[in-house]
Amino acid sequence: MVIKTTSGNIYIGKDALRSLNAFLKKSDYSQYYIICDENTLLHCLPSLINHCPALSDAEIFELDPGEQSKTLQTCEQLWQTLIDFKADKKILVVNLGGGMISDLGGFVASLYKRGVNFINIPTSLLAMVDASIGGKNGVDHANVKNVIGTIQAPSAVFIHPGFLATLPIREFQNGMAEVFKIALIADKGFWEEISEAPNKKIDYVLAKSVKLKNQIVTKDPLEKGIRKSLNFGHTIGHALESALLHSEQPLLHGEAVLIGMLCESWLAWKKKLISNQAFTEIMEVLVSRFKPARHIDQKEHALAADFILNDKKNKDDKILFALPAPVGKCKFGIPATLDLIAQSVEFYNSLLK
Ligand SMILES: NC(=O)c1ccc[n+]([C@@H]2O[C@H](COP(=O)([O-])OP(=O)(O)OC[C@H]3O[C@@H](n4cnc5c(N)ncnc54)[C@H](O)[C@@H]3O)[C@@H](O)[C@H]2O)c1
Repeated sequence: MVIKTTSGNIYIGKDALRSLNAFLKKSDYSQYYIICDENTLLHCLPSLINHCPALSDAEIFELDPGEQSKTLQTCEQLWQTLIDFKADKKILVVNLGGGMISDLGGFVASLYKRGVNFINIPTSLLAMVDASIGGKNGVDHANVKNVIGTIQAPSAVFIHPGFLATLPIREFQNGMAEVFKIALIADKGFWEEISEAPNKKIDYVLAKSVKLKNQIVTKDPLEKGIRKSLNFGHTIGHALESALLHSEQPLLHGEAVLIGMLCESWLAWKKKLISNQAFTEIMEVLVSRFKPARHIDQKEHALAADFILNDKKNKDDKILFALPAPVGKCKFGIPATLDLIAQSVEFYNSLLK
């Protein structure tokens, strides 16, 4: 299936790599540069080249897997290598990997020679349903997640569900958390479907989630309004992810967002944006579907609070949230105090007992 967007098409399903082949055949790029990590090089690159022989001459950049690679230092190395290769403005950067690769590869491409074309070929569930769509690129800096970045959409996105076969289960769950997030804020019917039938066909889940995210980012590409709703779960989630980035037990992005969703649903309930019944149902669904990753102790919470105070979305010293109101819809710009946030984390910890 194809979702047409104002910037580039999104191809989803078993024919996605055939569409990539056709896309490459009708383009006139001077050279291909594939950015991948150790795992996607091993598990996804051979199949990609098999489907798209034009990519067999591509230069390959292999990064260490994980969030630790999503830094300016890695970007500098990639820019230097592009310069060494005398890469011109007509190259195509091919991001083959999870959200770490699409965020970083999109950032590198959007700034090299003031911007060259790039495509995303997401290989993790999280990147398929979320990170590869919408044109937000960036890196972490000084422990702060995605603090340096650009908004530039990829020329196209190719989502090949076959890549999920080698994705570890923890990473799969990580992506499912974002699926539940988009359903909870944007589509009550979809929320009910995935809550009642957890093993819904993956092609359906991919198509539905991508359509929902794409609808939102098309309406508001620069996050002036409705796109803020995608931040549900992310104010507390990102802060925890940043605070624990270099700890012994770091959280994956989706795991942090899951904790964020549990805390922020509590905020929505406290602010009477969702009913008692809806709140109970959200808790039951999320806690039974996902095993929340870990307890958040006071020290960790205090560290996270510093990140919350530095959140890009804050305005006039107010900490602002996007919250479900009611299920399937979202209100953004809702303030909450640090004290109330602390209570929501306490509530989250009580769920683990
Ligand atoms: N730009 C956005 O709109 C947006 C949205 C959500 C998240 N993000 C970013 O995305 C990142 C998280 O993405 P992620 O969870 O995909 O992380 P990731 O890219 O680090 O991938 C997770 C792990 O899965 C491995 N992997 C990926 N595909 C695989 C496959 N097919 N087989 C085997 N292993 C595979 C990777 O090597 C890595 O070890 C974070 O940096 C987050 O900030 C960005």
